[in-house]
Amino acid sequence: MEISLLAASGAAAHGHGGAGVNGVWIGAFQLSFGHILALPEGLSGSKVYDLWRESEMKHPLGLALILISIAVCVHAQPPTPGAPPPVALFSPATIQSFTPANNPGSDAKAKLGDMLFDDKRLSVDDSLACNMCHSPRNGFTTHTPTSRGVRDQLGKRNAPSILNAMFYKTMFWDGRAASLEEQATLPILNPIEMGQKEPKDVVAKLSAIPEFVEAFQQVFGHPVNWEDVGKALAAFERTRLSTEAPFDRFLRGDEKAMNASQRRGWALFTGKARCGSCHTYDPALPLFGDNRFHNTGVGSRKQDFNQLAKRAADSIAKGNKDEIDKLALATDASELGRFLVSKNREDIGAFKTPFLRDVLLTGPYMHDGSLETLWDVVEFFNKGGEKNPFLDAGMQPLGLTASEVDDLVNFMGALTSDRFSVERAGELDRQHTAYLYGLALQRENHKHAQ
Ligand code: HEC
Ligand code: HEC
Repeated sequence: MEISLLAASGAAAHGHGGAGVNGVWIGAFQLSFGHILALPEGLSGSKVYDLWRESEMKHPLGLALILISIAVCVHAQPPTPGAPPPVALFSPATIQSFTPANNPGSDAKAKLGDMLFDDKRLSVDDSLACNMCHSPRNGFTTHTPTSRGVRDQLGKRNAPSILNAMFYKTMFWDGRAASLEEQATLPILNPIEMGQKEPKDVVAKLSAIPEFVEAFQQVFGHPVNWEDVGKALAAFERTRLSTEAPFDRFLRGDEKAMNASQRRGWALFTGKARCGSCHTYDPALPLFGDNRFHNTGVGSRKQDFNQLAKRAADSIAKGNKDEIDKLALATDASELGRFLVSKNREDIGAFKTPFLRDVLLTGPYMHDGSLETLWDVVEFFNKGGEKNPFLDAGMQPLGLTASEVDDLVNFMGALTSDRFSVERAGELDRQHTAYLYGLALQRENHKHAQ
């Protein structure tokens, strides 16, 4: 069972600028896809402590508030009237068609995957679980530009959400893994993520933990093995999906589900702003991605692509999957993007078009987390991205006015799942303030430089 902590104030859900420390927490535990306000099973004292420790709000008051919120939850059972469970966005048939035949889903398998996803013992020094970089209460991301692995090592890329990841044709920003199953075991072995040396070390470690021995036996009918670790994690990830958002009700004919600004934003998205040429809208799979790779120039401010490609050519040419995984996360070659995998020059600096469901909750943005708010992202596209020799032909200056930029951001806000309605409320305001503050700061710096 997965627990996520809902913070009533959008600011409190973030670690930015210490806002979490001062923010008022009216935490409520919510079971994803389940009913709001039920006390999660097996919520031990140590799990509460972990939540507090991971909450970026390491303040004694924080612990007290979490404990109070649990007490409130116990009293609030069963679900409050008027809070219907979130409506599924994807039909069981759709989910089935994206599930590989050799790894059919089941509740028990997803539960085992959830146990693995939450367990720090998967890392070499028991310090890091998948859910610490893909945190359920942060839309399955971390609100930091790039990720920190074991022994305090900082990686080169921003952790994407795992929500809806099952619908990507390839995994990672550069698509170097072909499936969720293949992806899931890579962070465990990456030296700057979970740091395990060999698959057999992980299997031995899990085989010494009775709850895992029992669960693997029950789900797969045999003792722990490496491939099944990936299969269980993937099965869990296939249960983490966006739910219905205001945009979906609008499309079904409820005009009022989106306000006037959001409706203008939708028209701009597919029209003047040309977002839909890459973030394609497919009514059968309405996720706003094309499963392709484009150079938008995000990384070109920091380096010369040609020189970087030349320097990295040898390691890329002989790199196997594990080597490429290390290049992508631990070296400057990371910025070469899809080129690391395809080795085609036209893929230099190209990254996967991310889906946009629940994107309001997953900042900062882009493969390197370099853009803090959705306003920064839209302004980035507005100026036609960043010039470089490999820039995608679809990237052109758009001439959007400030209010059109607002409309596009508001429209993206309408893609937020109803189950995140609490976070949704505070987050647009927080981002707008952060954006305006950033602009003011730039102006100040400019003045001083003159
Ligand atoms: C140190 C932080 C960290 C840990 C721990 C971690 N991840 Fe990630 N995860 C990332 C980053 C960063 C990326 C993007 C890397 C890239 O694209 O090169 C990523 C990418 C992914 C993706 C691809 C999503 C997409 O949109 O392509 C999935 C799925 C995923 N991780 C699942 C997991 C699972 C399962 C675990 C645990 C076994 C895990 N992660 C552990 C940081 C982490
Ligand atoms: C040429 C294709 C293309 C066009 C046009 C385009 N995007 Fe993107 N978008 C991308 C790619 C590729 C990325 C990832 C870039 C990177 O990280 O280097 C991205 C990233 C994003 C992100 C960040 C998501 C995240 O999880 O980090 C948002 C938000 C976004 N785009 C919205 C828009 C909007 C709004 C428009 C229209 C104004 C637009 N995009 C136009 C391809 C495109």
